[in-house]
Amino acid sequence: MTDHFPDGFLWGAATAAYQIEGAHDEDGRGESIWDRFSHTPGKVFGNHTGDRACDHYHRWREDIQLMQQLGLQAYRFSIAWSRILPQGYGKVNQKGLDFYSCLVDGLLDAGIVPYATLYHWDLPQALQDRGGWPARSTAEAFVEYAEIASQHLGDRVASWATLNEPQVSAQAGYLQGRHAPGHTSLDEMMAASHHLLLAHGWAVPVLRRNAPRAQVGVVLNLQPHTAASSNEADQLAARLGDGMQNRWYLDPLAGRNYPADVVAHYDRSMAYVLSGDLEAIAAPLDYLGVNHYFRTVHRSESTADAEVTVQVSSDKTEMGWEVYPPGIQEILLRLHREYPFPAYYITENGAAFADEVSEDGAVHDAQRVNYLREYLHNAHQAIAAGVPLKGYFAWSLLDNFEWAWGYSRRFGIVYVDYETQTRIIKDSGRLYTKIVKENRLK
Ligand code: FCB
Repeated sequence: MTDHFPDGFLWGAATAAYQIEGAHDEDGRGESIWDRFSHTPGKVFGNHTGDRACDHYHRWREDIQLMQQLGLQAYRFSIAWSRILPQGYGKVNQKGLDFYSCLVDGLLDAGIVPYATLYHWDLPQALQDRGGWPARSTAEAFVEYAEIASQHLGDRVASWATLNEPQVSAQAGYLQGRHAPGHTSLDEMMAASHHLLLAHGWAVPVLRRNAPRAQVGVVLNLQPHTAASSNEADQLAARLGDGMQNRWYLDPLAGRNYPADVVAHYDRSMAYVLSGDLEAIAAPLDYLGVNHYFRTVHRSESTADAEVTVQVSSDKTEMGWEVYPPGIQEILLRLHREYPFPAYYITENGAAFADEVSEDGAVHDAQRVNYLREYLHNAHQAIAAGVPLKGYFAWSLLDNFEWAWGYSRRFGIVYVDYETQTRIIKDSGRLYTKIVKENRLK
């Protein structure tokens, strides 16, 4: 069976600044919350830091060559806020702007379409010191940053995303404490989520003014939340899980306010939601970016005895995430059915496995090869069912700093030897090249 993708379907790969750039204290870059967090003993696996990472800040030219070798049509990267505004606002660091300007020109010269994300979790530490995302002033600073970045890179960047996964920024950073800045407060988490969405909404008109020909969107982590059984408690748990992760972000973006069931569940003051905020958050978008990795199956404690009807696969990635390829199709179909976004991109999808360099010098990542095939087949099914899915970005171009997991989890379609900084295209990367070239799966 052959899955042909539509003409013009865009194939790319994604990365994020803190995960690959390194050069944490070079050319005037300011400290970010991930520098502070990773330098705090015990926060990251093996006390790894992004100080050097993939050294992309110095090796970006050869990394663009690698993208060419892979045949990529687009590259999704993020901009480090604290390279451009070391304090988060105020004084601009020209060298930071120059870096991204050269990167964008290098991509364009190589025939690769630049997709930029403004915020992939690396808040300037100076802004965290003034309250971080729970403070409204951080959303104001973000608008200043969006203004400067888009004034300089504007239409050379074909597509802008304001935020990457605000749910993870808020939840992992301010409630669970497993990401920077490592706080554990429900009120902070809720206020952070609102100010992230507000920052997004306020930045949209700025991006449109400075980059009138570019696409503007936002990237969410979205996944199906399934009940383990038909039991009512399980169904409710799944509905709430979906509400907290998906609808809390989708609904306000779609102009529907925060979901009432989740507001009732949290049962906290939301006095920080001011008049006009929800209108700003609902600014029309050109596309929604979907990061998808796994689904969550909910089993309420109160139904411990009920029969489980949904079987979770024992096939898991190194992250412990279930390999469930239909999930990507389910989430896309649901989005298209329930929300009004005009277009979708899979802005991240991929898997961590324990890759090794074989004696032949190659990396035979058979599990990732399968993962890619299966998830792409399901994405194709969604297109066949009418979902306006316009492109796919593999996570990730390179093995990199996987946040709290440090360098212990490898997601790349390209292997990185961190000692020597050698890059080796994995079997999954070779397969991807073939898929991109033929625009189909066989
Ligand atoms: C996503 C992040 C990305 C990467 C993948 C594995 O949640 O956006 O940076 O860590 O997970």
